[in-house]
Amino acid sequence: MSIAEDREVQPYLRGVYAPVHDEIDLVDLEVTGELPAELRGSFLRNGPNPMFDPAGRYHLFDGDGMVHELSLADGRASYRNRWVRSRGLAAEQVAGRALYGGMANAAFPGPDVVGDAGPMKNVANTHVVRHAGEILCLWEAGPPTVLADDLSTVGTTDFGGRLRGAFTAHPKIDPVTQQMFAFGYSAIPPYLRYHVIEADGTLSRTVDIDLPAPVMMHDFVVTETHAVFLDAPAVFDLAGFAAGGPMIAWQPERGTRIGVMARDGDGSDLRWIPVEDCYVFHFLNGHSDGERVVIDACRLPRMDIGLDADAPPLPAGEDPSGYLTRFTIDLAAGTARHDRLAEVSGDFPRLDDRVAGRANRYGYLASFANGAPDRSLPGEDGLFDSITAYDLQAGTETSYRVGPGRVVGEPVVASHPDGEEGDGWVMSYVHDRATQRSEVQILAAADIAAGPVATVHLPRRVPFGFHGSWLPA
Ligand SMILES: [Fe+2]
Repeated sequence: MSIAEDREVQPYLRGVYAPVHDEIDLVDLEVTGELPAELRGSFLRNGPNPMFDPAGRYHLFDGDGMVHELSLADGRASYRNRWVRSRGLAAEQVAGRALYGGMANAAFPGPDVVGDAGPMKNVANTHVVRHAGEILCLWEAGPPTVLADDLSTVGTTDFGGRLRGAFTAHPKIDPVTQQMFAFGYSAIPPYLRYHVIEADGTLSRTVDIDLPAPVMMHDFVVTETHAVFLDAPAVFDLAGFAAGGPMIAWQPERGTRIGVMARDGDGSDLRWIPVEDCYVFHFLNGHSDGERVVIDACRLPRMDIGLDADAPPLPAGEDPSGYLTRFTIDLAAGTARHDRLAEVSGDFPRLDDRVAGRANRYGYLASFANGAPDRSLPGEDGLFDSITAYDLQAGTETSYRVGPGRVVGEPVVASHPDGEEGDGWVMSYVHDRATQRSEVQILAAADIAAGPVATVHLPRRVPFGFHGSWLPA
């Protein structure tokens, strides 16, 4: 296979996506600017990093999880990275090669190949959060994986036997009650389950939710009083997948709807409200206001993760990009409307977690302030060139461009320990395509356009990845 063909087939193993092959510890990293004295803690970020060359076509969502930790204290920065050591990865290490398939390569090894590691590898590669004192690496097709403070893998958790099925990569933690709210979807009934985990880590309630079809649901919204789900027609077809078809197909004839239920309820009050067809990977936030529920989302006209070559094309002239969009749901009337908030397209929205579930003023997205990516090149779709800050009260947006040949990831918010919403910093990995090195840029949340107040330089690249958390010391 030529290099050009290989790039076509495996774009997510090239350039800023290419995996690193070792685990390292670095201290006293080079810093430009001045690290804020209040920033004491760890910036953890998860992402796919396959240990072994994939046996077939590689999808970005397939790689073994790797957590990158940037620790900040007393104006100094250190770094380490560790794989999430899943049971499936352990079986592959014994074999010395990849044994599992992925989203674009149906392969489910049996016990003769992987022993008791199971037919699917829980790569735990999507997000990393801390709840009830435990670091959880999350992957939406399986249970969470617990890491010790030194990032060594403890193993998966089913919350003492209480978790049935999978667990979203995007749980919500209430900043007041410290409860964690989550869901899990499944390709077999019940297609959706909603979970409440108490502040002490006890899974206290699970609600089974009926859906007409098994759909891929990546994120949801929890307000002070409601849990909100988006049932969009990204439908699993496991039989078709086993026969060589796509794992997930976009079926707009099924329609799209928003479900709202009391977050502390048993699901009996769940109401579904139809909306124009769309897909949302990530919600910024939401809040309840009497009979109104307001949610802000990165709304896309459809779900497209490169699996369904036979999906019907978008109508001519329709913009395939995602934009920050407000859905306003009127529970009394049973209606919902949506209004685009953003000029610049983007995704990976984050906010000051102190206002999660409440009316927030600010949001931060990874964005395309320089214009839409070149969709003719495989793998370019998610390579953001900017961070955009939204002031939802003033209705303004401000972008910070990271520069030519550079790519930025999710903007994680580190709150000022004594401040209010908007006081703090936004931090993200920035990748330089030419030098193949990465840095973490730290921006003042109140003035991202001014550029970084501090930049931590790494002597090598951190592969472009998914989600992370700032964990105060
Ligand atoms: Fe996500």
